[in-house]
Amino acid sequence: MSKTLHNQVAIISGGLGDIGRAVALELARRGAFVAISDVRPSSHANEFLEAIRSLGVRARYDNVDVSSATEVATWIRNIESEFGVPTLIIPNAAIVTLKGVRSVTPEEWLRELSINLTGAFHMAQSAAMRLLDAKKPGRIVFIGSWAAHAPHPNITTYCVAKAGLRMLCKCMALDLAPAGILVNEVAPGYVNAGLSAQLWAKTPGSREKAAERVPTRELIEPHEVALEVAHLCEPENRHTTGSVILMDGGLSLVTPANK
Ligand SMILES: NC(=O)c1ccc[n+]([C@@H]2O[C@H](COP(=O)([O-])OP(=O)(O)OC[C@H]3O[C@@H](n4cnc5c(N)ncnc54)[C@H](O)[C@@H]3O)[C@@H](O)[C@H]2O)c1
Repeated sequence: MSKTLHNQVAIISGGLGDIGRAVALELARRGAFVAISDVRPSSHANEFLEAIRSLGVRARYDNVDVSSATEVATWIRNIESEFGVPTLIIPNAAIVTLKGVRSVTPEEWLRELSINLTGAFHMAQSAAMRLLDAKKPGRIVFIGSWAAHAPHPNITTYCVAKAGLRMLCKCMALDLAPAGILVNEVAPGYVNAGLSAQLWAKTPGSREKAAERVPTRELIEPHEVALEVAHLCEPENRHTTGSVILMDGGLSLVTPANK
């Protein structure tokens, strides 16, 4: 593979999760230096960092809670000192609370929004300000979800956070386009890993049922999400901004009238 992202510095939150790892590997394969963060202990990152470095790029791991603006700003400053200004920004960290509006507590609501929405904002804002100061172009790719536009009564907070993320993406895209910073969202449907897999593990047969609901009858693999993210990061993408790459196998097309 040609090193089309050579000279780029990628930062990925939730980088030890399933989709985060796949994105980190794909951007590294294309030549980017990679800085990942997560709330997991550093010992969980060592083997993965070696796998990234074996692709011939530099890599680092930091323990960063994205809900803290201070931790995120310090992380980005430290990366800049070691690798240079981050140019490919992937806000990916998220949690999901399996509760609807009748049972979710105010604390659970706030915590999920502070990670899934405000955490993504902290990262995108901090990184965008550094790019603007340095007068460098860049790419921000939010990891959204089809749940941003499809109500799910048992993951209400998650849907609200992803809907907010979508508007954040569009506002930032409009603001930052003149500076050459393109801002987009990749919105997967059911991924055969990560948050969905954690939920499916609780109910036997639920993974199969989910796959049956998808018009393509297929679940998405993390590396397929990574390919969409990487495509948006490529220098040849000069015009796509404020867009949502919806990759849900047609899930959003299913309505009571046609199922
Ligand atoms: N799995 C799916 O079906 C699916 C579908 C659509 C969108 N997504 C999105 O993909 C992204 C990645 O999710 P995943 O499925 O790989 O799940 P995952 O649980 O494997 O990864 C999420 C990572 O975020 C980390 N994290 C949690 N709280 C954090 C915090 N406060 N600060 C920093 N990191 C934190 C977790 O430790 C974890 O490693 C999320 O934005 C999710 O909403 C997933």
